[in-house]
Amino acid sequence: MKGILLAGGTGSRLYPMTKTVSKQLLPVYDKPMVYYPLSTLLSLGISKVLIVTTPKDKDSFQALLGDGSSLGCSFSYAVQPKPNGLAEAFLIGADFIGTDSVALILGDNLFYGSAIQKQSPSAGFTGGLIFGTHVQNPERYGIVELDAEGNVKSIEEKPKTPKSNLAIPGLYFFDHTVVEKAKQVKPSARDELEITDIHNAYWKEDSLRVAILEQGTAWLDTGTVQSLSKAHVFVEAIQSRQGVLVGSPELAAYKEGFIDLPQLKALALNYKDAEYGKYLKRWIDEQ
Ligand code: G1P
Repeated sequence: MKGILLAGGTGSRLYPMTKTVSKQLLPVYDKPMVYYPLSTLLSLGISKVLIVTTPKDKDSFQALLGDGSSLGCSFSYAVQPKPNGLAEAFLIGADFIGTDSVALILGDNLFYGSAIQKQSPSAGFTGGLIFGTHVQNPERYGIVELDAEGNVKSIEEKPKTPKSNLAIPGLYFFDHTVVEKAKQVKPSARDELEITDIHNAYWKEDSLRVAILEQGTAWLDTGTVQSLSKAHVFVEAIQSRQGVLVGSPELAAYKEGFIDLPQLKALALNYKDAEYGKYLKRWIDEQ
């Protein structure tokens, strides 16, 4: 399975912070936001990742993450010239996807907990899989309504009068037919190619599964000042109480066997005396 990490958009809800810096490069506690979704992809065993950014920010992402080889991975880059919607990622990434299945993760979505690995599909799956999780502000998200048997009744993007409070987080799994489906999507009223139209296309084919995020999995989106600030506090609390590093691509790459312990050690040394490197070194010493 391949991975697409979408780090486009203007981040206008975070102005002035994002006037000159990409939202996904802003810090979430001790590391850039993009580290978290990237770590999630790697922790799912995905080593080939296409990072889609705005034209203005591509060089910065490339300078930060490189070609992935030091993590035993392959990172490539593409641009989304305008914020035309999430579904456009599959058109931009069509050649990259080829005949593989793909996981799309949004660059401002932060997942914590190991259940996500268990709930994610394996490489050869067909159809689509999305998650659902209860939220208090459903008008902010893609919303799925289920019947008593757990079958999909409706899927809507940011509904004004939500039919449920089951939000669809920004981690989606699709087989390669997603590219053809994305080609059929028409711009919405807000002039975007909506990801929920992709979900609906799979649903109409009867090949969409909805997995309810298990308790113990935290999902945070960091698209507003309030949610970003909550994410800082969350990461700080987990790291200082449990002594673990949340959202480390280096650790994820090691745990997935993409790199070995000496390679991880060398990567930790690159961080010199930064807290991030100290966490890594402490973790390595405990092995
Ligand atoms: C996007 C999607 C929405 C999804 C959300 C998750 O919205 O359009 O369906 O629930 O991400 O974060 P955005 O927050 O980019 O407006």
